Amino acid sequence: MEKILNLISEKVSAAFAAAGYDAAYGRVTVSNRPDLCEYQCNGAMPAAKAYHKAPIQIANDVAAKLTEEPAFSEVQALAPGFLNLRLAPAFLASYLEQTRTAERFGVAADPKAGTVVIDYGGANVAKPLHVGHLRSAIIGESIKRIQRFFGNETIGDVHLGDWGLQMGLVIAELQVRRPELCYFDPDFRGEYPAEAPFTISDLEEIYPAASAKSKVDEAFAAKAHDYTVRLQQGEPGPYALWKHIMAVSVADLKKNYGRLAVSFEAWLGESDAQSYIPDMLRDMEAQGILETSEGARVIRVQEESDTKEVPPCIVMKSDGATLYATTDLATIKQRMQTWNPGRILYVVDKRQSLHFEQVFRSARKAGLVRPETELRHIGYGTMNGKDGKPFKTRTGGVMRLETLITEINDFVRAKVQENNLVTGEDVEDTTARIALAALKYGDLMNAPTKDYIFDLDRFAAFEGNTGPYILYTIVRIKSILARYGAWEALPIVPPETPEAKDLMLALTRLPDALELAYRDCAPNAICAYVYELAGFANKFYHETRILAEADEEKQKGYIALIGLTKRILETCIELLGFEAPEKM
Ligand code: ARG
Repeated sequence: MEKILNLISEKVSAAFAAAGYDAAYGRVTVSNRPDLCEYQCNGAMPAAKAYHKAPIQIANDVAAKLTEEPAFSEVQALAPGFLNLRLAPAFLASYLEQTRTAERFGVAADPKAGTVVIDYGGANVAKPLHVGHLRSAIIGESIKRIQRFFGNETIGDVHLGDWGLQMGLVIAELQVRRPELCYFDPDFRGEYPAEAPFTISDLEEIYPAASAKSKVDEAFAAKAHDYTVRLQQGEPGPYALWKHIMAVSVADLKKNYGRLAVSFEAWLGESDAQSYIPDMLRDMEAQGILETSEGARVIRVQEESDTKEVPPCIVMKSDGATLYATTDLATIKQRMQTWNPGRILYVVDKRQSLHFEQVFRSARKAGLVRPETELRHIGYGTMNGKDGKPFKTRTGGVMRLETLITEINDFVRAKVQENNLVTGEDVEDTTARIALAALKYGDLMNAPTKDYIFDLDRFAAFEGNTGPYILYTIVRIKSILARYGAWEALPIVPPETPEAKDLMLALTRLPDALELAYRDCAPNAICAYVYELAGFANKFYHETRILAEADEEKQKGYIALIGLTKRILETCIELLGFEAPEKM
């Protein structure tokens, strides 16, 4: 469907042409003075220079050509040369009726849509999922849904940190505690047990203990390093233990991501890229793009247009070890081979931006991607506590994601029960949905790059710019619709009140909000839109007697309008990654 601004612009452009001026001056924008008009065209001002005429004269000429135009109920030429426009109610209604019946509300799919890999989550195996990874999960999931909405095939890849020293640390610590395990017996020849010799709680205690020990105990640090190398060389015992660590961690991660309504199409990790490294390095050598710098093999990525230094990307250290960047490059190779994406998006902490700049440049230099494949890092800022420092537990430790989710749920459940929003079996479901909306909206309403302060009182409030407020608006509409009866087929009719018209005008702005969110990978554009839309919906609700309306035809129109509003709000929050409850 054509966007409404384009439709109006075409009409005004035609009027410019009919009055003898260049049609290009007919570009219309949403009014910045909603008290005066709904749309405006300022083209008469630049046209005045070109045609050596007073702008108001041009505006008058154009307005005269629009008197018969059925799309407008009002066209006013105003000094010095503005064209102020109001839409005809019937035109607005027929536009929204198309919106109502079109697939995806008439929002056009991306004509260049293809396969998009979204690298988000990024959890590190054996370490508990902590709030540092929360934003990646929330923002990444939303971006994935937005990419899919615009017609792309999407693959969310959790890209686990499953191959580093943390694995060696856990294995070394296990060896100290339980040397009798068959995994440490070099003469063991049988089948390793199917059951892991530890639980997730054990792992969560083992990793921090081992990590702390390695910092003070050199022999232990060396042992952990040794196990890391042996694991990477595929020695059966360490490898079998690693498999257990993976299985136990991944099951736990799936549970936690599940509570966030975050899911992944691919559960790959750094370990899955390792087999691509030897060939990749060989090709790079053959292409002559590797240089030696202080014993390491590097790719120079500095470009002439750079205003600051971009250091070379190190792909192999002098001892032959490969690095985080090597793994990311190999992962690109793996992704191109497996999915051949036209776009790879990385939703990772913005402090890694230099790393990604180096990796992307290296990938292009090495020809790992097609020239047109887009590589983009969506760097996000930090979630801070009220003290403005990175969010911590009350005792100052790193907050586990699970703990945070439980705390938010407890907070919201108390509110739900206190206000008797729902009872009995509905309490848990409603609580979980409100809590998730509070958490996700509180995050997504900020541009990803911005740091923000986690403030549960504010995020969970039912009024103001919050997730619960948006849910509340939807639930209220749902309850009217439920009391009315079948509403799905009712057509949109011309607005009769200013509140109805404002709501309808807001509904026509959906495509702009979604396109902005898509183009800029900015879910915050959708938050801004739903907040605006919810405001107009609530105003309409307050000013209109919907269920009490005696005139049946009028009532049908009201119901159709809130029905479309509900569907659009629901689509938007689905793109943000949460859902409204039935009651609240
Ligand atoms: N595991 C990494 C970390 O915790 C994040 C991984 C991000 N993705 C990537 N392709 N490098 O910092």
